[in-house]
Amino acid sequence: MTLQLKHTSRQRARLPEPPDELKQKSADLVKKIRQRLKRHGQLPFSDYMQMALYTPGLGYYTSGLPKIGRGGDFVTAPEISPLFSQCLARQVAQGLSLLTTPNVIEFGAGRGTMARDLLLALDEAGQAERLQRYYILELSADLRDRQQTLLNSLPAHLANKVEWLSELPKTPLEAVVLANEVLDAMPFERLRLEPEQTLRAYVYYNEAHEALEWTYEPIVEPELQRISNQLLQSLGSVSERGYDTEVNLNLYPWLQSLSESLTRGLVLLVDYGYPRQEYYQPARHMGTLRCHYQHLAHSDPFFYPGLQDITAHVDFTAVAENAFSAGFKIAGYTTQAHFLMSSGLMDLAHQPDAEVTEQLKLAQQIKTLTLPDEMGETFKVMALSKDLDQPLVGFEFRDLRHQL
Ligand SMILES: C[S@@+](CC[C@H](N)C(=O)[O-])C[C@H]1O[C@@H](n2cnc3c(N)ncnc32)[C@H](O)[C@@H]1O
Repeated sequence: MTLQLKHTSRQRARLPEPPDELKQKSADLVKKIRQRLKRHGQLPFSDYMQMALYTPGLGYYTSGLPKIGRGGDFVTAPEISPLFSQCLARQVAQGLSLLTTPNVIEFGAGRGTMARDLLLALDEAGQAERLQRYYILELSADLRDRQQTLLNSLPAHLANKVEWLSELPKTPLEAVVLANEVLDAMPFERLRLEPEQTLRAYVYYNEAHEALEWTYEPIVEPELQRISNQLLQSLGSVSERGYDTEVNLNLYPWLQSLSESLTRGLVLLVDYGYPRQEYYQPARHMGTLRCHYQHLAHSDPFFYPGLQDITAHVDFTAVAENAFSAGFKIAGYTTQAHFLMSSGLMDLAHQPDAEVTEQLKLAQQIKTLTLPDEMGETFKVMALSKDLDQPLVGFEFRDLRHQL
């Protein structure tokens, strides 16, 4: 059975056309995807997403195109204001103070802005000296180059702490682990629940349309079957129009390898998402798959593969369950707004000597980071701990673990 998203062509009409050389880059990636499709006929959506985002040199995150910031496709919290990283630094500092040989490991560090501002804030708080290493685990050679250029401009005693990794250290260590908007960029499965059947989404090449398209097959994998049964149970029933949604099967392996790499530590995950009961609502029947292209959000993952980001919201209940199975405790869960407030946002923003224009700029940045209809509520912060039991500063104002 082949189903197409009905709104695809209308969505495409309002998206800007890329220049010819970028279209060529995307065509090169589609060629590679088609070579794989020739062997397999169809690919689970997660495999397609892996290729679209991470094919060396051609994937969205692995090609040299600007992605994050005004000239790219989306903006992340550390890019909006250094206040974000300065607040995070307070929670990181508390975590580091509880470790004997403290390290930081940052996953997917984007342009390196958070690493820079965090190291500067830790230094100002007198916490940088104890830090052994600031590891950055980066999948993209291009982003690694950009991070290196930015972080080399730090004072030498901070720049020297930074080390890039392509995989987690083999010898377990003590660390505070950071992942800002990383979970949403992990390849996920797309499922379709219907009154009479549950389906897994695949991608195939429709020769007649000369386009990549969706196709669906009944779910046969026990793990996906288990998850779809659980979803059907929490939804109650599914109407005739069906229910499309996403499931991240990479969570457990990722958390498991993280847990194995830590003797003790704290993991801070920041991302947009909901607890399960809020995530899988009948109203969200089209799922949370979102693509970002030149600051426009839409839901067509086949629009110029390699030129746009593909994401889904995070099911934080699933993160908590998988983290627990992997050996972590769930040490805190709250909204970004509450986390930043608990971590001293207002103190940090109080700069009475700053010029009026600077103060207005700060006020605007705080609004974007904290207002409920901006990033304040949809973005959540989750803390996972291993062999650490202290209450965490970032979750003092409001801890929402009971919602998970
Ligand atoms: C939306 S960007 C966020 C970048 C940056 N953290 C920021 O906030 O600006 C997502 C990043 O997650 C990275 N990523 C996704 N899965 C990853 C994994 N398993 N290990 C390391 N990085 C990963 C991507 O390569 C990309 O750099």
